[in-house]
Amino acid sequence: MIGRLNHVAIAVKDLEKSASLYRDTLGAKVSAPQAEPAHGVTVVFIELPNTKIELLQPLGENSPIAKFLEKNPDGGMHHVCYEVEDIIAARDRLKATGARVLGDGEPKIGAHGKPVLFLHPKDFNGTLVELEQV
Ligand code: CO
Repeated sequence: MIGRLNHVAIAVKDLEKSASLYRDTLGAKVSAPQAEPAHGVTVVFIELPNTKIELLQPLGENSPIAKFLEKNPDGGMHHVCYEVEDIIAARDRLKATGARVLGDGEPKIGAHGKPVLFLHPKDFNGTLVELEQV
């Protein structure tokens, strides 16, 4: 059911410092910061030959990554995103196995303009999983 690894998201406190680490120290292609108010984050996209890294910095008062950064003050891996062809079919199949879909269970438009869903980390080895329809 799942396809390619679309991205790995890393939560950071200082987006400019972290972007510079990827651009200047690691020599990667790094985008300009992009505010995503609907998701409570500002994102920098890092393009690697086989996938992407997304750096997430909290945006606004109720950012969903604020608590994560309290627990992980140095930043850390926040979620992995797998591609699926049909997000509704994927959701229904996962729910039938007892997996928990976060929020109201309806796909939202993610940072790439495509429908996404998040799955409860307790059902996936302690890792928050995002599904993106491609
Ligand atoms: Co993501």
